[in-house]
Amino acid sequence: MLICNLSRRNPCADFAANSAHPVRHFACDLAREEEIAAAADRVLATLGSEATAGRVLLVNNSGIGGFGRFPAPSAARQLEIIDVNVRAVVDLTARLLPCLRERGGAIINVASVVAYAPTPFCATYGASKAFLLNWSVALAEEMRGTPVRVLAVSPGTTRTEFFTGTGAAAPDAIARRGMSPDEVVDAAFTALAGSRANVVPGWGNLLAGVAGSLLPKALAARIARGAMERRVPGSS
Ligand SMILES: NC(=O)c1ccc[n+]([C@@H]2O[C@H](COP(=O)([O-])OP(=O)(O)OC[C@H]3O[C@@H](n4cnc5c(N)ncnc54)[C@H](OP(=O)(O)O)[C@@H]3O)[C@@H](O)[C@H]2O)c1
Repeated sequence: MLICNLSRRNPCADFAANSAHPVRHFACDLAREEEIAAAADRVLATLGSEATAGRVLLVNNSGIGGFGRFPAPSAARQLEIIDVNVRAVVDLTARLLPCLRERGGAIINVASVVAYAPTPFCATYGASKAFLLNWSVALAEEMRGTPVRVLAVSPGTTRTEFFTGTGAAAPDAIARRGMSPDEVVDAAFTALAGSRANVVPGWGNLLAGVAGSLLPKALAARIARGAMERRVPGSS
């Protein structure tokens, strides 16, 4: 198995040292269309030369958030959220899909439990994940009967660096309350082994997601406001 990573920084040195599989890093700012095009070409060329057979798994995991009373933390950040969380995923998937169709495989799109309800104080982030959830489930249906599976994974708070630099108050304290990344990955691969098009890891998150999708949108937004407002300094 060959692992290809696309991100700006190279996280591969430590990971590669402990990986049983070869790891390649392709530096790519997913907010920049020309970098996505170049990185996708390099991934396809690398697959063609170093892993000529076997299925392909595309994990669209990179994503950024922004908390605050809109447009805080900044208008530029709002647009960057759309570029990285939405535009880049659509672009990269379109570029790699012919290879997936030919060789078979799967696409995992990392959305969020906030996709299930309007989320005040991170409105653009929540809407970007709602796009990703609906887009993924629609694609999964389109791909039915083809050798390509599509799965949306919608985690709740997870213990990563995600909240740092988003404008959220006490980012470390928020992350500490979350699930571990390993638990999210386990839930994703268990779902991928089945036939589902979307999964919400963790019972609490699942309940929040179900409630968010069943309630009238304005009521769901009012309830979500309570949870989100606490994450934003000086919002009230
Ligand atoms: N942590 C949570 O509580 C949580 C909850 C629900 C959903 N999620 C979702 O889970 C996914 C993974 O996030 P995480 O929690 O692991 O956060 P993270 O620790 O902040 O990691 C974000 C990843 O995205 C990459 N990235 C950000 N901007 C990029 C850009 N312009 N170009 C290329 N790569 C970029 C980063 O790499 P570089 O900085 O090196 O580019 C990093 O690898 C995201 O889609 C996030 O929305 C997270």
